[in-house]
Amino acid sequence: MLDYRAKFVLAPMVRIGELPTRLLALKFGADLVWGPEIIDKKLLTCERKYNDQLKTVDFLSKTGNKKVPGMTDLVFRTFPEMEKDKVVFQMGTANAQLAVDAAKIVIEDVGAIDINAGCPKHFSIHSGMGAALLSTPDLLCEILTRLVNEVGKPNEKPISVKIRLLPKKEDTLALVGRLVKTGISNLTLHCRTREMRNREDPIRDYVDEIHQICKDNNVTFIINGKVESYQDYAGLQEQYGEDVGAMVASAAEKNPTCFNKDGPLPWYTAAKEFVRFAQQFTHHPANTKYCLARMVPNDHNKNKIYHLITKASTGEQFIDIILTKMSDTGEYIGDSNANPVEKEVKRKSAEDNEASTKRIKV
Ligand SMILES: Cc1cc2nc3c(=O)[nH]c(=O)nc-3n(C[C@H](O)[C@H](O)[C@H](O)COP(=O)(O)O)c2cc1C
Repeated sequence: MLDYRAKFVLAPMVRIGELPTRLLALKFGADLVWGPEIIDKKLLTCERKYNDQLKTVDFLSKTGNKKVPGMTDLVFRTFPEMEKDKVVFQMGTANAQLAVDAAKIVIEDVGAIDINAGCPKHFSIHSGMGAALLSTPDLLCEILTRLVNEVGKPNEKPISVKIRLLPKKEDTLALVGRLVKTGISNLTLHCRTREMRNREDPIRDYVDEIHQICKDNNVTFIINGKVESYQDYAGLQEQYGEDVGAMVASAAEKNPTCFNKDGPLPWYTAAKEFVRFAQQFTHHPANTKYCLARMVPNDHNKNKIYHLITKASTGEQFIDIILTKMSDTGEYIGDSNANPVEKEVKRKSAEDNEASTKRIKV
C-alpha cells in the first residue's frame, strides 16, 4: 500500500505531469509522483484498456477527441512496471457522487487518489473545484469522507487532499482540523494563499501547528511551495521533523531530474532522457513539445535547439533534434556528427511511431 510518510514527491501539474515526466522523476529519485489534475466528468467518459505493446494501462475517453475525428482520446496512462504503488491520481471535483464514481474507474491501477483543493487557475475553480473547495468545507469533507469509505477502504488504497493556506491562520487551522477527521491518509499544504503567485516566497510561519494537527490524527503531512532540491527536502525534515514530506512543482517542470540527491542532471541530459521515455511510450507530440520547451533554455533566443523545438511538431522531429542533432553537452551538431547508434535509434523510432499512429486510429 502506498505510504506518503516522509516522501519526496513530484507535484500534480496539468500538462507537465504526464507519463514521461513522472517516469523521469521516479528514475532520478522521486519517491511518489502525482498525475495532472483530471476532472471527474472526463474520467467518467473513459474506459480502461491494457496496452499489450507498451505494457501500460490506458484510460481512453469514449467520447473521442473532438479536434481529431477518428482518434481516441488518451486521458491517463500509467506504466505499472515503474509506477505501481507510486502514482497518485489527482482528481478535480465538486461533487461527492461523481468523485466516487470516477475514482472507482482508476482505483485498481493507481496507488492513491488525491483531491485538488488548492489550484486557483480557472480550469480548476470553475464549477467549484480546486481552491474553490476551500470556501465550501462541508462539501470538501463530504467528498473526502465518501471517497475514504466507498473507494479507499474497500480497495485498501489511501485518499489524500492538497490545499492552500487561507488568508487567516485560525481559519486554516480550523479547516485542517476538519479535514484530518475525514479518514484521509495525507494532507499536502501548498504554503501560499490562493491570491499568491508561485514566484512569491511561501509562508511557513505556522507549518509546525498544521503538522501537529496532522500528526495527532495519524495523517501524514507534505510541504509544498518553493521546494527545489533534495537539500531543500532534507532541510525541511531537519526543521519540521523527519516524518514530513516535500513536494516539488516548478523546479521539476524545468528539470524533472531535480529529485536526484547529487543535484539535477544538466538540461541536455534530462532532455535526452525525457525524449527516450516519450519515444518508448509513443507520447503525444504536442505534449512532448510543451514539456521540452520548458526544459530547454531559450538563452535569449540564441539556443538553436530551443528554436528547432518550437518549429517541430512530430515525435520523429523531437527525437531527431534531441537525440541526433544535439551533442551530449547540449550543442547543436546537425546531422553530420550523429553517431551510428543515434541514427539507428532515430530510424527505429520512426518505425515505432508509424506503427503506433496506425494502432490508435480507429
Ligand atoms: C504547470 C503547472 C501546473 C499545475 N497543475 C496543478 C494541478 O493540476 N493540480 C494542483 O493541485 N496543482 C497544480 N499546480 C500547482 C503545483 O502543484 C504547486 O502546488 C505549485 O506550483 C507550488 O509549488 P512550487 O513552488 O514547487 O512551484 C500546477 C503548477 C504548475 C507550475
